[in-house]
Amino acid sequence: MTPSHNEAFNAHAIHEFSFWFMDLQKLRNDFPLLASPSNKPVMYFDNACMSLKPRAVINAMNQYYEQFPACGGPGRSGHALGARVREAVDQSRQTIARAIGAQHPNEIIFTRNTTESINLVARSFRWNAGDVVLTTDKEHNSNLIPWLNTRRLSNIRHAVIPSLPDNTFDLSAFEQLLKLGSVRLVSVGLVSNLDGVRVPIAEIIKRAHAAGAMVMVDAAQAMLHSPLNVQALGVDFLAFSGHKMLGPTGTGVLYGKRELLENLEPFLLGGDTVSATTYTDFQLLDVPERFEAGLQDYAGIIGLGAAMEYLQSIGWPFIESQDQQMNRIITEGIAHLKGVHMIGPADPALRGGIVAFTIKGMDHHQVAVMLEQMNAILVRSGQHCVHSWFGSRGIPGSVRASVAFYNTVDEAEQFVQAMEKITTLL
Ligand SMILES: Cc1ncc(COP(=O)(O)O)c(C=O)c1O
Repeated sequence: MTPSHNEAFNAHAIHEFSFWFMDLQKLRNDFPLLASPSNKPVMYFDNACMSLKPRAVINAMNQYYEQFPACGGPGRSGHALGARVREAVDQSRQTIARAIGAQHPNEIIFTRNTTESINLVARSFRWNAGDVVLTTDKEHNSNLIPWLNTRRLSNIRHAVIPSLPDNTFDLSAFEQLLKLGSVRLVSVGLVSNLDGVRVPIAEIIKRAHAAGAMVMVDAAQAMLHSPLNVQALGVDFLAFSGHKMLGPTGTGVLYGKRELLENLEPFLLGGDTVSATTYTDFQLLDVPERFEAGLQDYAGIIGLGAAMEYLQSIGWPFIESQDQQMNRIITEGIAHLKGVHMIGPADPALRGGIVAFTIKGMDHHQVAVMLEQMNAILVRSGQHCVHSWFGSRGIPGSVRASVAFYNTVDEAEQFVQAMEKITTLL
């Protein structure tokens, strides 16, 4: 390359770099915790537990509280403020339905979180004794305990699909279990909160449907990181949490195919679920109202719609490239360090936004405390609500760094430097 070529190349590279850099800075300014000079700077790598909230979400919630803080349920306050609440809730439902490719907004049920969405299906489905529910060996407690409990209450059977040695999904083990027959539901985490591995959901759904089983997708760890279209995939039920995808805390969604939702028996009944009652009977409202019992978290639901709109405005290519870049920098920087053992496949491309690891000879909680005290790096340590996986392997816990699109290269590099220092203590 001649010097002038070189200069032109550098100018181009700088322009490209500053474009991304400026964009990221602008995005970070949308998040009060990252933007405010009065906040002590933190490097937030606990996005799998709780994402940060952009101002658009906070503003949407404040708008409810400041301008129309009224009741919005069916048959509740008919006045102007009530009408505004209903309109905003409807809008939120439509936004969510469009974003996940649902056929109709009425297929969206607002819940408090993924846990409630999964329990709703477990408790409300008309099970036959002997029905089989399959989950993987890496499920969050919220996609395990509801099935263990349904086994107790409704006499269903529950079987576990073992993962391959690198913690990825084992299609042939799955196929063997399907051959047992009577599989009514396959309930799987789309992206694991343990190690970030994504299951081959299109193939799982294809094979489950061929065997006559429905599929419930736990998308708690997927919604912040990649697009999803329930109709294109043929998803039967989908559960996710708002608070892990930029939304308010205590908000969640259950999507279900209309005909399936209509056949569920709501387990939570009361105000807003019925059109009429006598002293001896009641008339249920249609789907989704029959599942949204009692006064709802209107501000939360409205904030959740705003979160989905904000997420979509950023664009998936940028989000996915940020996830991959951070994961690669951290993985390549720490995988070879003394005592470090990565959980899940070595290739960061297979692990989305999560880097989980143990350090031989060091307590995982102690590592998390050191990261915070040395560099204000916030991670999660423990068993991440996957006690079954850790317990069965005799592993006491792990350190988990989970990234989001607002993390920076500088933060990822500082994470690696902090880990270099920590592992020299061994
Ligand atoms: C994969 C997965 N499923 C379910 C849940 C439960 O989510 P929530 O606590 O919001 O109900 C989590 C939470 O971390 C998760 O990571």
